[in-house]
Amino acid sequence: KFKGVIFDLDGVLCHTDEYHYLAWQQLAQQEGIYFDRLINQRLLGISRSESLEIVLERAGRTYTQAEKIRLAERKNELYRQYLLRMTPADLTTGAEKVLQTLEAAGVKLAVGSSSRNARFILDKLGISSKFQVIIDGNVLQHSKPDKEVFCKALAALHLAADQCLVVEDAVSGIQAAVSAGIKTAGIGKVIEQTAVDYTLHAISDLLPVVLGTGSQRHAF
Ligand code: G6P
Ligand code: MG
Repeated sequence: KFKGVIFDLDGVLCHTDEYHYLAWQQLAQQEGIYFDRLINQRLLGISRSESLEIVLERAGRTYTQAEKIRLAERKNELYRQYLLRMTPADLTTGAEKVLQTLEAAGVKLAVGSSSRNARFILDKLGISSKFQVIIDGNVLQHSKPDKEVFCKALAALHLAADQCLVVEDAVSGIQAAVSAGIKTAGIGKVIEQTAVDYTLHAISDLLPVVLGTGSQRHAF
Protein backbone atom coordinates (compact mmCIF):
# COMPACT_ATOMS: atom_id res chain seq x y z
CA LYS A 1 0.00 0.00 0.00
CA PHE A 2 2.85 2.42 0.81
CA LYS A 3 6.06 2.19 -1.22
CA GLY A 4 8.13 4.11 1.30
CA VAL A 5 8.20 4.88 5.01
CA ILE A 6 10.00 7.88 6.48
CA PHE A 7 10.77 7.40 10.15
CA ASP A 8 11.44 10.12 12.66
CA LEU A 9 14.30 8.98 14.92
CA ASP A 10 14.16 10.44 18.44
CA GLY A 11 11.07 9.05 20.18
CA VAL A 12 10.14 6.70 17.33
CA LEU A 13 13.01 4.29 16.65
CA CYS A 14 14.60 4.85 20.06
CA HIS A 15 13.95 6.70 23.30
CA THR A 16 16.54 9.44 22.86
CA ASP A 17 13.67 11.89 23.44
CA GLU A 18 14.16 11.08 27.15
CA TYR A 19 17.91 11.79 26.88
CA HIS A 20 17.16 15.14 25.23
CA TYR A 21 14.85 15.94 28.16
CA LEU A 22 17.43 14.91 30.77
CA ALA A 23 20.19 16.95 29.09
CA TRP A 24 18.02 20.10 28.81
CA GLN A 25 16.93 19.57 32.42
CA GLN A 26 20.57 19.41 33.56
CA LEU A 27 21.53 22.49 31.56
CA ALA A 28 18.55 24.47 32.84
CA GLN A 29 19.35 23.46 36.41
CA GLN A 30 22.96 24.57 36.03
CA GLU A 31 21.74 27.93 34.74
CA GLY A 32 19.01 28.28 37.38
CA ILE A 33 16.25 28.19 34.76
CA TYR A 34 12.91 26.48 35.40
CA PHE A 35 12.27 23.56 33.04
CA ASP A 36 9.72 20.72 33.03
CA ARG A 37 8.25 17.98 30.84
CA LEU A 38 5.50 20.23 29.57
CA ILE A 39 8.02 22.76 28.25
CA ASN A 40 10.02 19.81 26.88
CA GLN A 41 7.02 18.78 24.75
CA ARG A 42 7.54 21.96 22.72
CA LEU A 43 11.12 20.95 21.92
CA LEU A 44 10.23 17.72 20.14
CA GLY A 45 11.28 17.72 16.50
CA ILE A 46 12.79 21.18 16.46
CA SER A 47 16.47 22.08 16.13
CA ARG A 48 18.92 22.45 19.01
CA SER A 49 19.19 26.23 18.65
CA GLU A 50 15.40 26.71 18.44
CA SER A 51 15.00 24.42 21.46
CA LEU A 52 17.45 26.56 23.41
CA GLU A 53 15.40 29.69 22.65
CA ILE A 54 12.36 27.99 24.21
CA VAL A 55 14.36 26.91 27.28
CA LEU A 56 15.66 30.49 27.68
CA GLU A 57 12.11 31.91 27.73
CA ARG A 58 12.18 31.19 31.48
CA ALA A 59 15.65 32.67 32.04
CA GLY A 60 16.02 35.62 34.38
CA ARG A 61 18.41 37.39 32.05
CA THR A 62 19.25 37.72 28.39
CA TYR A 63 22.09 35.77 26.83
CA THR A 64 24.46 36.96 24.11
CA GLN A 65 24.77 35.05 20.85
CA ALA A 66 28.17 33.71 21.95
CA GLU A 67 26.68 32.52 25.25
CA LYS A 68 23.84 30.81 23.40
CA ILE A 69 26.30 28.95 21.17
CA ARG A 70 28.17 27.76 24.26
CA LEU A 71 24.92 26.71 26.00
CA ALA A 72 23.86 24.68 22.94
CA GLU A 73 27.30 23.02 22.94
CA ARG A 74 27.02 22.24 26.65
CA LYS A 75 23.58 20.70 26.14
CA ASN A 76 24.96 18.54 23.35
CA GLU A 77 27.89 17.42 25.51
CA LEU A 78 25.45 16.38 28.25
CA TYR A 79 23.25 14.64 25.67
CA ARG A 80 26.18 12.79 24.04
CA GLN A 81 27.06 11.24 27.42
CA TYR A 82 23.78 9.31 27.14
CA LEU A 83 24.30 8.47 23.45
CA LEU A 84 27.72 6.95 24.14
CA ARG A 85 26.09 4.25 26.24
CA MET A 86 23.54 3.25 23.58
CA THR A 87 23.56 -0.23 22.03
CA PRO A 88 21.23 -2.13 19.64
CA ALA A 89 19.23 -3.05 22.77
CA ASP A 90 18.03 0.58 22.86
CA LEU A 91 16.02 0.16 19.68
CA THR A 92 12.29 0.64 20.39
CA THR A 93 10.68 -2.71 21.21
CA GLY A 94 9.45 -4.32 17.99
CA ALA A 95 11.30 -1.89 15.71
CA GLU A 96 13.84 -4.42 14.48
CA LYS A 97 11.11 -6.79 13.27
CA VAL A 98 9.20 -3.91 11.66
CA LEU A 99 12.29 -2.77 9.73
CA GLN A 100 13.13 -6.33 8.68
CA THR A 101 9.59 -7.08 7.53
CA LEU A 102 9.26 -3.85 5.56
CA GLU A 103 12.68 -4.34 3.98
CA ALA A 104 11.75 -7.90 2.96
CA ALA A 105 8.49 -6.60 1.47
CA GLY A 106 10.47 -4.18 -0.72
CA VAL A 107 9.32 -1.05 1.07
CA LYS A 108 11.90 1.76 0.84
CA LEU A 109 12.97 3.09 4.23
CA ALA A 110 14.18 6.55 5.21
CA VAL A 111 14.98 8.54 8.33
CA GLY A 112 13.86 12.16 8.53
CA SER A 113 15.24 13.82 11.65
CA SER A 114 16.11 17.35 12.79
CA SER A 115 19.03 15.94 14.77
CA ARG A 116 22.68 16.47 13.92
CA ASN A 117 23.38 13.32 15.95
CA ALA A 118 21.13 11.09 13.85
CA ARG A 119 23.85 9.09 12.07
CA PHE A 120 25.74 8.52 15.31
CA ILE A 121 22.57 7.19 16.96
CA LEU A 122 21.68 4.96 14.00
CA ASP A 123 25.20 3.51 14.11
CA LYS A 124 24.90 2.88 17.85
CA LEU A 125 21.59 1.11 17.22
CA GLY A 126 23.20 -0.90 14.41
CA ILE A 127 20.50 -0.02 11.87
CA SER A 128 22.15 2.55 9.57
CA SER A 129 22.28 0.10 6.67
CA LYS A 130 18.49 -0.47 6.77
CA PHE A 131 17.82 3.00 5.35
CA GLN A 132 18.26 3.99 1.70
CA VAL A 133 17.96 7.61 2.73
CA ILE A 134 18.96 9.50 5.88
CA ILE A 135 18.03 13.19 6.02
CA ASP A 136 19.22 14.82 9.24
CA GLY A 137 19.81 18.19 10.86
CA ASN A 138 23.16 18.59 9.12
CA VAL A 139 21.56 19.12 5.71
CA LEU A 140 18.53 21.20 6.72
CA GLN A 141 18.02 24.95 6.51
CA HIS A 142 14.75 24.75 8.44
CA SER A 143 13.74 22.16 11.02
CA LYS A 144 10.26 20.72 11.53
CA PRO A 145 7.48 21.96 11.33
CA ASP A 146 8.99 23.08 8.01
CA LYS A 147 8.41 20.44 5.33
CA GLU A 148 12.04 20.55 4.07
CA VAL A 149 13.16 17.34 5.79
CA PHE A 150 10.37 15.29 4.26
CA CYS A 151 10.57 16.91 0.82
CA LYS A 152 14.28 16.08 0.75
CA ALA A 153 13.51 12.51 1.82
CA LEU A 154 10.88 12.07 -0.92
CA ALA A 155 13.27 13.38 -3.56
CA ALA A 156 16.05 11.06 -2.42
CA LEU A 157 13.69 8.08 -2.30
CA HIS A 158 12.39 8.95 -5.80
CA LEU A 159 8.85 8.60 -4.51
CA ALA A 160 5.81 10.87 -4.59
CA ALA A 161 4.17 12.16 -1.41
CA ASP A 162 1.13 9.89 -1.79
CA GLN A 163 3.34 6.79 -1.99
CA CYS A 164 4.87 7.40 1.44
CA LEU A 165 4.01 7.40 5.12
CA VAL A 166 5.72 9.42 7.86
CA VAL A 167 6.04 7.99 11.38
CA GLU A 168 6.26 10.69 14.05
CA ASP A 169 6.04 11.31 17.79
CA ALA A 170 6.07 15.13 17.59
CA VAL A 171 3.45 17.72 16.70
CA SER A 172 6.08 19.64 14.70
CA GLY A 173 6.83 16.46 12.75
CA ILE A 174 3.17 15.79 11.96
CA GLN A 175 2.82 19.40 10.78
CA ALA A 176 5.90 19.01 8.57
CA ALA A 177 4.52 15.82 7.01
CA VAL A 178 1.10 17.36 6.43
CA SER A 179 2.63 20.36 4.68
CA ALA A 180 4.68 18.00 2.51
CA GLY A 181 1.41 16.23 1.62
CA ILE A 182 2.43 12.92 3.21
CA LYS A 183 0.14 10.70 5.28
CA THR A 184 1.02 10.45 8.97
CA ALA A 185 1.26 7.70 11.56
CA GLY A 186 1.53 9.00 15.12
CA ILE A 187 3.09 7.18 18.06
CA GLY A 188 3.11 8.31 21.70
CA LYS A 189 1.59 11.50 23.15
CA VAL A 190 1.30 13.17 19.76
CA ILE A 191 -1.87 11.22 19.01
CA GLU A 192 -3.61 13.07 21.87
CA GLN A 193 -2.32 16.44 20.65
CA THR A 194 -3.01 16.53 16.94
CA ALA A 195 -4.82 14.71 14.14
CA VAL A 196 -2.96 11.86 12.45
CA ASP A 197 -3.99 9.49 9.67
CA TYR A 198 -3.00 6.37 11.62
CA THR A 199 -2.61 5.77 15.35
CA LEU A 200 0.18 3.45 16.45
CA HIS A 201 -0.03 2.11 19.99
CA ALA A 202 3.20 0.25 19.33
CA ILE A 203 5.63 0.43 16.42
CA SER A 204 4.48 -3.05 15.32
CA ASP A 205 1.06 -1.51 14.47
CA LEU A 206 2.85 -0.03 11.47
CA LEU A 207 3.01 -3.31 9.55
CA PRO A 208 -0.71 -3.67 8.70
CA VAL A 209 -0.86 0.05 7.85
CA VAL A 210 2.06 -0.05 5.41
CA LEU A 211 1.44 -3.48 3.95
CA GLY A 212 -2.30 -2.88 3.64
CA THR A 213 -3.37 -5.85 5.72
CA GLY A 214 -5.57 -3.82 8.05
CA SER A 215 -7.05 -0.36 8.43
CA GLN A 216 -7.30 1.88 11.44
CA ARG A 217 -7.87 5.50 10.59
CA HIS A 218 -7.87 7.86 13.51
CA ALA A 219 -10.00 10.98 13.76
CA PHE A 220 -8.97 13.55 16.33
C1 G6P B 1 15.14 15.88 17.14
C2 G6P B 1 14.53 15.95 18.52
C3 G6P B 1 14.62 17.36 19.08
C4 G6P B 1 16.05 17.86 18.99
C5 G6P B 1 16.50 17.85 17.55
C6 G6P B 1 17.95 18.31 17.39
O1 G6P B 1 14.27 16.41 16.23
O2 G6P B 1 13.17 15.55 18.51
O3 G6P B 1 14.18 17.34 20.41
O4 G6P B 1 16.15 19.16 19.51
O5 G6P B 1 16.39 16.54 17.04
O6 G6P B 1 18.80 17.31 17.89
P1 G6P B 1 20.36 17.43 18.06
O7 G6P B 1 20.75 16.00 18.32
O8 G6P B 1 20.90 17.94 16.77
O9 G6P B 1 20.61 18.34 19.19
MG1 MG C 1 10.73 12.62 17.47
